[in-house]
Amino acid sequence: MKKAQVIVDQHFLVGDVDKRIFGSFIEHLGRAVYEGIYQPGSKFADEEGLRRDVLELVRQLQVPVVRYPGGNFVSGYHWEDGVGPKNQRPARVDPAWQVIETNEFGLNEFASWARKAQAEVMMAVNLGTRGPEDAKNILEYCNFREGTYYSDLRRKHGYEEPHNIKLWCMGNEMDGPWQMGHKTAEEYGRAAQETGRLMKMMDSSIETVACGSSNLEMPTFGSWEETVLEICYDQVDYLSLHQYYGNREDDTPDFLASSVGMDRFISSVVSICDCVKAKQRKKKQINLSFDEWNVWYHSNEADEKLPKWVKAPHQLEDIYNFEDALLVGSMLITLLRHADRVKIACLAQLVNVIAPIMTSDTGAWRQTIFYPFLYTSRYGRGTVLNTVVKAPVYESRTYGEASYLDAVLVWNQEQEELTMFAVNKDLEEDMEVSCDLRQFADYRIVEHQVLTHTDLKAVNTEENPDEVTVRPGSGARLEEGKLTAVLGKHSWQMIRMARNAR
Ligand code: AHR
Repeated sequence: MKKAQVIVDQHFLVGDVDKRIFGSFIEHLGRAVYEGIYQPGSKFADEEGLRRDVLELVRQLQVPVVRYPGGNFVSGYHWEDGVGPKNQRPARVDPAWQVIETNEFGLNEFASWARKAQAEVMMAVNLGTRGPEDAKNILEYCNFREGTYYSDLRRKHGYEEPHNIKLWCMGNEMDGPWQMGHKTAEEYGRAAQETGRLMKMMDSSIETVACGSSNLEMPTFGSWEETVLEICYDQVDYLSLHQYYGNREDDTPDFLASSVGMDRFISSVVSICDCVKAKQRKKKQINLSFDEWNVWYHSNEADEKLPKWVKAPHQLEDIYNFEDALLVGSMLITLLRHADRVKIACLAQLVNVIAPIMTSDTGAWRQTIFYPFLYTSRYGRGTVLNTVVKAPVYESRTYGEASYLDAVLVWNQEQEELTMFAVNKDLEEDMEVSCDLRQFADYRIVEHQVLTHTDLKAVNTEENPDEVTVRPGSGARLEEGKLTAVLGKHSWQMIRMARNAR
């Protein structure tokens, strides 16, 4: 059996977890909106046509913020099409996904849904085919109380209270040649500068997110971030990162090492933000919004064969297996380990489209990736301890050296809880892990959850929704200040400790 040591010190902290790192994303894409969160006529729909079963699962996940309405979709979107009387809303082509958008669901319906989901809205504006004028108008519609054209229009549409949206994405993946209205870094930097300036003139309480690179493989990665920030540093609060991973070569150790890639990606973007900060002698720090991350590859082939110009097709419907859940668990650990700089992150996406939640006419069910997200979101709140992992390593094809063990400890001082999240990536051997926790006198283990399966490719389905699920772990001990646990081969684990009541 391999052995590993996890080292923490109560005084060595990464930083406080911003709960928004447990955000998610709903795009007008496939069946995310239609049949996902909204399905009037369904036996699960409430009086607004919102699926109650989905809302219940989203509330379980405790998703504090949801990005909307895209994604690639937003770069051609006219938000005005999706407000007002439903029978007057136009159906439009969506060139991004080559489908028909009926506009039956729009921003007001989404704001209602988010309220019921107990989430904040992170709204994206169209900087592809539109620009600052459109951003100004949608902000007025959403955040102004009354007495102006767009605020009164919202009231006329039946929404008396402003939506008061605080977080705004200025465009989506504008570096990507696939993006409608794709721009060079200089063009986008100027567009974001003027859009951010205008939006903050309208409402100084909002925060803005500028587009970083669409992924680490973009040829312009690095120079894009630097140029954009050099132009619009003052108008921006966060820089976005997007990254999806896939086990295309069926090389699981390499796939599981993707969290190393994610870790390096985050560190690189932090360096670029700080480089521009130093060059421009700024006091303000730009933090990161990792607003699209997940596994995405299972549905790629099927999507190529889908008919075009239909409504809400089964697009991007990845069915996640057990090893995907292991990687999602590792990616969450990576986000936590960067809690000092990653303040927002969105699991892309939330329902039906590369999602933890799937729906059909008979109900909603949980994919494998639902579980690491659920537990990390619920118990990964507090302060991240600087967690040193001393574990055996292996050589991965894509990322070089990777640790067999990913781990992080989060200390919730308010609740007097300490939680360890860990992934043993070793496919052959269990691992004995120890951690000196003498500083946490009076703590005891209150919960140990494990996600594992004998088959790395096992999936949950509508018919068999609990094939891959979390089960209580055994054998973990916290004695005389020393935590010891045997982490089974290829497993995700959560060990939650709490202080004894005095
Ligand atoms: O989440 C699916 C798509 O991935 C989004 O629309 C786009 O931003 C990214 O390329």
